[in-house]
Amino acid sequence: MKRIFKGDIIYTSNPKSFEIYEDSYLIVENGVVKSICKDLESISDDYEVLDFTNKLIIPGFVDIHLHSSQYLNIGLGMDKELIPWLNTYTFPEEAKFKNIEYAKIVYEKFISDLINKGTTSSVIYATIHKESTLLLMDLLNESKLRAYVGKVNMDRNTTEDLCEETDRSLRDTEDIILGTMGKNVKPIITPRFVPSCTPELMRGLADLANKYDIPVQSHLSENTNEVEWVKKLHPEIKNYASVYDEFGLFGQTKTIMAHCIYTTDEEIKLMSERGVFAAHCALSNYNLSSGIMPVRKYLDYGVKVGIGSDISGGNTLSIPQSIVSTIQASKIKWLESGKELYPLSFSEAFYMATKGGGEFFGNVGSLEKGYKADFLVIDDSNITNHNEFGAFERLQKYIYSGNETNIIKVYVNGERVK
Ligand code: GUN
Ligand code: FE
Repeated sequence: MKRIFKGDIIYTSNPKSFEIYEDSYLIVENGVVKSICKDLESISDDYEVLDFTNKLIIPGFVDIHLHSSQYLNIGLGMDKELIPWLNTYTFPEEAKFKNIEYAKIVYEKFISDLINKGTTSSVIYATIHKESTLLLMDLLNESKLRAYVGKVNMDRNTTEDLCEETDRSLRDTEDIILGTMGKNVKPIITPRFVPSCTPELMRGLADLANKYDIPVQSHLSENTNEVEWVKKLHPEIKNYASVYDEFGLFGQTKTIMAHCIYTTDEEIKLMSERGVFAAHCALSNYNLSSGIMPVRKYLDYGVKVGIGSDISGGNTLSIPQSIVSTIQASKIKWLESGKELYPLSFSEAFYMATKGGGEFFGNVGSLEKGYKADFLVIDDSNITNHNEFGAFERLQKYIYSGNETNIIKVYVNGERVK
C-alpha cells in the first residue's frame, strides 16, 4: 500500500521544537512513514495521492492512562478525593461490567469517541472481568486502533463484587494473555494499585509478566491518603515504588506508573534507572484534588513521561485538553516552586502527548521516517486564517481552542479509521 498525503505537516521529533513542512507530501508505504518531501518529481506514479492542501497533518494522540470502564462516569463525584471517589462512584460502576451486554454498549461508545477525539494509541484499564475485557480487545481490534488493554486485578480492599480470589485473578489474566497472542491489541498486566493487591497477587502477576514478556501498568503516589495507606500496609518497605519493585512490577518488563505526584527523589531515580514511564494525568489530578506532578523534575531525571486522560478521574478523552491542562499545571508548579521547576513549553507538552507516550508502543507518535503512519488531518479554517498564520501558530490555536469537529480524518498504520 503506497499513499501520499499532501498538507501542512507538523510534529515533534524531540521535545524542544517542532518539525514543520508546509505544503508538503507525507509518503507512506505499508503503514509506515517513508519520507516527507516538498515536491513529487522523484516519486513513481503507483502512489495514491490524497490532497489535504491547507489542512494540518499531525501525529495521532497517545493516551497512556485511561479507564474505559469509567467512561459513563465522566463528571461524577468530582467533589471527592481519590479513595471515597473510588468507593462511592467508581467501584459500583465497574461492577456492572460483569454484564457483557452493558460492557458492549459502553465500550462501543468509548471506542467511537476515542477515534473522534483523535486518540490513535492508548493504554487502557478495563475491569476485573475476563469476558468484558476480551470483548473490549475484540472491539478495539476491529476498530484498527493501537492499544494495550489490562484486565484489572484486585484481591483486597475493594467491594465484595470486585474482590477476586487470588488464584482466579491470576488464571483469568493468563487466559487473556494466551487468548490474545498474535493480535494487534495487546494485553498489559494491571494490578490496580498496591492497596487493592495482596503480595501473593503482585508476585503472581510479576511471574506472568516475566513468563510471557507482558508490560505492566499501575498507579503510584496519586493522593496523600493513599501514600499513607500503602505505608501502613507495607511498613517494612521503604517507599511506595519499592513495594512494586520488591514484587517484581517496576520495570522488570516495560512499565507505566500513573500520577506520580508524591514520589520521592529516590523513587524518581529508580523510575529513571528502570525505564519506567510516568503517565501524567493533569485533569484527573485537579478534579480529585490530588495535587500537581512536578513534571520538570521527572524530565530532568531522564524519566519518560506521557499523558493520560485518566477518565473518569479526568473529565474528557480529549488529549488536546490534557495538553493545555498539563502546561497550565506546570506553570502553577513553577510559581509554587519559587520559579525553580521551569514550566513546560507547548512543544514539550505536545511531544509528551505524541512521541513521548508513543515510545511505549515503539516507533509511534511522530512522522519521522520509519514511524507508524498514525496521523490526523485537521481542518482549522473555522478558528484560523491559514494565510495569516504558520503551521506552528495554527497547531497551537487548534490545541487550545479547537475540538473534535476540526479532526476530519484519522489514520492508523496508513489506513483510515475515521
Ligand atoms: N487508583 C486506583 N484506582 C484508580 C482509578 O480508577 N482512578 C484513579 N485516578 N486512581 C486510581
Ligand atoms: Fe487511573
